[in-house]
Amino acid sequence: MAQRESWATRAGFILAAVGSAVGLGNIWRFPYQVGEYGGAAFLVVYLLLVALIGFPVMLVEFTIGRRTERNPVGALKQIGEGAWTKVGWVFVLAGFVILSYYSVVAGWILRYTAIGLQGNYAAGGAGAQFMSVAGGMDSVVTHAIFMAAIVTVVAFGIQQGIEFSVKLMVPAIIALLIGLAVYAGTLSGAGEAYAYYLSPDLGTIAANWTEILPAAAAQAFFTLSLGMGVMITYASYLGEDRNLAKDGTIIVALDTAIAFTAGLVAFPVLYTAELTDVAAGPSFIFVSLAQAFSNIPFGGIIGAIFFAIVTIAALSSAISIMEVVVSYLIDEHGVDRLPATIALGVVIFVVGLPVAYEPEGLNWLVVYDGFANSILLILGGLLLAIYIGWVATDLGIEELGKGIHNLGSWGMVWIWTLRVPVIIVLLIVLTQNTIGYYE
Ligand code: PHE
Ligand code: NA
Repeated sequence: MAQRESWATRAGFILAAVGSAVGLGNIWRFPYQVGEYGGAAFLVVYLLLVALIGFPVMLVEFTIGRRTERNPVGALKQIGEGAWTKVGWVFVLAGFVILSYYSVVAGWILRYTAIGLQGNYAAGGAGAQFMSVAGGMDSVVTHAIFMAAIVTVVAFGIQQGIEFSVKLMVPAIIALLIGLAVYAGTLSGAGEAYAYYLSPDLGTIAANWTEILPAAAAQAFFTLSLGMGVMITYASYLGEDRNLAKDGTIIVALDTAIAFTAGLVAFPVLYTAELTDVAAGPSFIFVSLAQAFSNIPFGGIIGAIFFAIVTIAALSSAISIMEVVVSYLIDEHGVDRLPATIALGVVIFVVGLPVAYEPEGLNWLVVYDGFANSILLILGGLLLAIYIGWVATDLGIEELGKGIHNLGSWGMVWIWTLRVPVIIVLLIVLTQNTIGYYE
């Protein structure tokens, strides 16, 4: 058997993980979740969950991946017993569902980049413009183009494909987004927008926490690429000398900073265009924000830069989802990378067709996104937290301790965080989301 691949450089792993984390979740999903769930109130709950739930679960994925040097299915087969050996399948299923609609939405974003470059967004008929981009053959074509881009990168493998591309993409995302946030700060609506975005109303949190908590948890998992084995897979290409806690901190901090910065762009643009109805749902950046771009100075080009950032960010995330399933076919079935990648590209493209084609509506998108994010990812994360927290505690602590000079009692702090708060919160969230989904 050929030698398993690995990252070429120290930065390669972090950049790839940041590339995976930073994506549609930060720039498409995050602002509309903030809008839907009460602005700063949502932001506070989300930040707490990222730190207290997301970070510990990320370490779980890292330790399992590095220990086994396997894809998520193979990893749990190797270390688990009984039913635990089957848990990896949740991740593969989640990968299929998420990537199928992720590519569709990313295709729309690509199209919006082109629209901005060609002139500007429709001032009046923003909703109609979006519906023509987001349904029918146009949407199928952009879905195909984006899927082809994913396949191309992943086919080149870990070092020449993923690592090479994230070294270009991640710095570009950060630089462009900071530039836009600075520009947005000069707009006339900035002050009012910051007030909405940055001053949490504790009363709102208290009154709505049963809605805010599950939504914020789903967002925290989605944005950190948790609960579907991406971080298991990426850590499986890693050497033993890495300090996983330090790398995890950098990854979580960058993802959070970028989501936060996306809000610093979106809300001032909206408020300046006097579009303060921020609770528009998944069409938010395509309708309200695009329309807002058409109302501000240099809107076309600013919008094009914005959507170009989102396109790049989506690509660096999509490749990580594809890599989960590709690594499974390579490790477990000895398939070569190229045929594995192409076959998956075709199959996942087909799975996404209902979302892509559906004219005049986003019902399939909501079905796919809801199922994958609010149920599968949370379930995946919960199972992993139970596994390391209660079943394979020693393995977790030992693996975390490698590369950390003096872990001391931090290992047990981590384990107890998983054992009680993480598991309880995820159980509540999973129950709430499942009920909500089937209602
Ligand atoms: N973290 C990505 C984002 O924020 C989405 C993602 C979810 C990627 C799950 C991989 C796995 O857009
Ligand atoms: Na993210």
